[in-house]
Amino acid sequence: MHSSFQYKDEEFHMGGVSLAKIAESVGTPFYVYSYEFLKDSFTAYKEAFSAMDTLICYSVKANSNLAVLKAFSDLGSGYDIVSGGELLRVKRAGGDPGKVVFSGVGKTREEMKAAIEAGILFFNVESEEELHELNSVGIELGKKAPVALRVNPDIDPKTHPYISTGFKKSKFGIEIGRAFEVYKEANKMEGIDVMAIDAHIGSQIFDLTPFVDSVKKLISLADDLVREGINIQYIDIGGGLGISYKLDDKPPHPSMYADIVMKEFSGKPYKLVLEPGRSLMGNSGMLVTKVLYLKEGTAKKFVIVDAAMNDLIRPAFYESYHEILPVIRGSEDKDVVDVVGPICESGDFLAQDRELPKVSSGDLLAVLSAGAYGFVMSSNYNTRPRVAEVMVKGDQFSVIRERETYDDLLKLEQIPDFL
Ligand code: LLP
Repeated sequence: MHSSFQYKDEEFHMGGVSLAKIAESVGTPFYVYSYEFLKDSFTAYKEAFSAMDTLICYSVKANSNLAVLKAFSDLGSGYDIVSGGELLRVKRAGGDPGKVVFSGVGKTREEMKAAIEAGILFFNVESEEELHELNSVGIELGKKAPVALRVNPDIDPKTHPYISTGFKKSKFGIEIGRAFEVYKEANKMEGIDVMAIDAHIGSQIFDLTPFVDSVKKLISLADDLVREGINIQYIDIGGGLGISYKLDDKPPHPSMYADIVMKEFSGKPYKLVLEPGRSLMGNSGMLVTKVLYLKEGTAKKFVIVDAAMNDLIRPAFYESYHEILPVIRGSEDKDVVDVVGPICESGDFLAQDRELPKVSSGDLLAVLSAGAYGFVMSSNYNTRPRVAEVMVKGDQFSVIRERETYDDLLKLEQIPDFL
């Protein structure tokens, strides 16, 4: 755990702020992110890759709050986006569109136009049809769209199947065997300016070998293209570095990742682009929830809390493990429990068969490693307002997204006249 997360007088603190104090002020549940943690994570990447011309493009989908984006932009980050909405967020946060790369298999014409007009660094084009569409948008605007092809290197990243993307069978990218031909075609298009190669093989990756395999394939393709007279300036190797979800997990440090990547790039003319998301934000954030009831069946003990799968879907969706700690340390006695939410689904759990210190109604629990793919994947299922988000910096904290109200939830709905 980061040094700024600790118990002081038995109260769990993020930096100089007690989580219990935040709960008093904003209510529960809430997400809370540490500015210091995200800054240190970004700096670790920056230092690790400092020997190379590298642009770190924070992957906005991991946590797209404007305050988070502003913090990264102040640190010099660029952005990996996957929608027009994310582009708008980057602009609202004061980010530099010239440091934006745009991935995703289903970009619309409107999104393409907005990104060309904003002056993004390049598109990661994921299919031949998309390339033709982008070319026609470029021509319509009288501009050249800057392009990388996202290639699918057919590599097993050895992670959860739902977050593996570089397999031949996945929907992402253009098969690497076909890429050379598509590049030659793209290079002749009037509305396209070819400048880069991209791949992203998956997420929550602990084994560095798949990264090496992917980088080797990308560099070899880039060399072939340059020999063909195609001007490849950037190689974007995607994101995917894993983080610790269990306190004793040992993910590779960005410096280990940098060493193996930079070794492959040594002597090559290409600039490097990275798209990390989880490894910048995941462990900077927590979901804080309150115990509502305890319920003891003959087969299981349940701790029913006020946060649910709509707030943090990762346990239900990927069977992922998140450490849970009491916000106020009390009982030394332990119980094996399921921590569940109020939603009417058996999949609504934050932890199963987990040994936790005994808790009572009203106690607060911190669900760790929830800074990436936490709030952004939350929903209003069961007409539950999405929770507040808070940022902590030093001994200050501030709400960076208000808790939704019932009015927020209902305001777009209407009952038609024919009813
Ligand atoms: N670049 C592209 C094109 C991506 O699709 C992703 C993540 C990233 C970068 C950032 O990957 P990261 O560094 O965060 O691993 N919701 C899942 C994770 C989905 C990842 C989707 N793509 C989860 O909660 O585990």
